[in-house]
Amino acid sequence: MKKIAPSILSADFGRLAEEIQAVERAGADWIHLDIMDGHFVPNITAGPILVEAARRATKLPLDAHLMIENAEKYIPEFVKAGADSISVHYEACRDLKGTLALIHKLGAKASVAINPATSVSAILPVLSEVDMVLIMTVDPGFPGQGFISSCVSKVEELKKILQSKNLQIDIEVDGGIKPDNIYLTSQAGATAFVAGSAIFKSSDYKKTIAALRANL
Ligand code: DX5
Ligand code: ZN
Repeated sequence: MKKIAPSILSADFGRLAEEIQAVERAGADWIHLDIMDGHFVPNITAGPILVEAARRATKLPLDAHLMIENAEKYIPEFVKAGADSISVHYEACRDLKGTLALIHKLGAKASVAINPATSVSAILPVLSEVDMVLIMTVDPGFPGQGFISSCVSKVEELKKILQSKNLQIDIEVDGGIKPDNIYLTSQAGATAFVAGSAIFKSSDYKKTIAALRANL
């Protein structure tokens, strides 16, 4: 089943638990948590404390997207805080295989994320070691940016590679996903869809999630 993962980056942080519960009631499948360090990306959010707060608000799977350097150092804390899956960036990891293995060893799902400028070929060596690949459809750092449509061909390319290797893992897309472009990524083979501003800046979360799902 295809998953809709609201990114709480565009939620009202003063009412975080309520916002998470509202998207859960509105039909969200996962909750996407953007962790930024001000180094790998120019923006800062919060660390494991954010995951821990989300964990208390919902039983939905928590999909943590780490846009940080030295991710390996913090992974135990993110798992302990309740992250079900952890995405680490290819561009930010010195020892990608080791980092993915650590996530698995601690009992979470492991995912590798790639920026728009990174080619799919870069992650071929780890495809058999991940549960998901996150293909960024904006440059990571900020919500509300425009969808980069040239990334759709990377989704197609990855899907073909996964089929040829008989690997059944999720392909997640993240950045600028809206009801009017989600089908492009879905047709290309994406199976999980992050949407931040499209959902949290809308007046009716349920209608927006239904519109995203209707266009898959
Ligand atoms: C961008 C983050 C995204 C972002 C999505 O760096 O990884 O998850 O919050 O927000 P929208 O859907 O507004 O692009
Ligand atoms: Zn994200």
